[in-house]
Amino acid sequence: MSHVTGLTNAAPAGFIAVAPVGDVPPGWVLRVSAGGRDIALSNVDGQFHALDNSCTHAGGPLAPNHLSPACTLECPWHNSVFDAATGEVVAGPARKPVRAYRVEVIDGVVYVSVDAAKPA
Ligand code: FES
Repeated sequence: MSHVTGLTNAAPAGFIAVAPVGDVPPGWVLRVSAGGRDIALSNVDGQFHALDNSCTHAGGPLAPNHLSPACTLECPWHNSVFDAATGEVVAGPARKPVRAYRVEVIDGVVYVSVDAAKPA
């Protein structure tokens, strides 16, 4: 799991530094920790997205992983598929979306807000 230390001075209010941008190449999903939450941080062509790292079907891990060409994450346990940006279910057996968090990138560092869910 990735952790960032000593880089929190630039954090916007409510956001927590989780990883240098270079740790998450395009197409990759990194497991990070923010505020005690386990997060799947993905890079979709330079846009970063954060979802709970727990499949809503039975808790399978969504990270570490690779994104599909369609920018989705597939759970390794029973193959549910989620939209990397929104957490919406693309294919079951999961029926509920995975929680998505707001993300900011500042000076080469990715920050995640775990205080409020990402607006739909
Ligand atoms: S735990 Fe993810 S599909 Fe079952």
